Amino acid sequence: MRLLVLHGPNLNLLGQREPGLYGSSTLAAIDAALQQQAAALGVEFASFQSNHEGALVDRIQQAGDPAGDTPCNGILINAAAYTHTSVAIRDALLAVAVPFVEVHLSNTHAREPFRHRSLLADRALGVICGFGPTSYRLALEGLVSHLRAAA
Ligand code: DQA
Repeated sequence: MRLLVLHGPNLNLLGQREPGLYGSSTLAAIDAALQQQAAALGVEFASFQSNHEGALVDRIQQAGDPAGDTPCNGILINAAAYTHTSVAIRDALLAVAVPFVEVHLSNTHAREPFRHRSLLADRALGVICGFGPTSYRLALEGLVSHLRAAA
């Protein structure tokens, strides 16, 4: 089983970006913890961050190509600000039909009204938000157990 974690815009700045909201962990530390968790579960894991909507769409398409180099069984996605705006990322996820979990570090529902709307949530297997880096850990655990139960 291979999983992909996608990180959207500005998440490369974790650790220095609004630490009161997003905490002090860097993206590299979050990925390293996910990598360890995946290895313990016997799952392959790849990570990709981009500040560009089209690059995220390209990576989703690649993950969904069974003849490609890195087809994936499931995706964890923190689309960051694109969660609230991107029809293109929604369409890419629906086009490839790879099961995905939406992740956020912060509780987006306890923030500005424009963050309450997600263009991905209604098609996600699940949504986890508000637990900082632990949101990713919970999402990975949930995704793997869902995929194993479905296999
Ligand atoms: C975020 C929440 C989004 O609203 C915001 O634009 C982000 C980060 C989170 O992980 O809490 O960049 O996705």
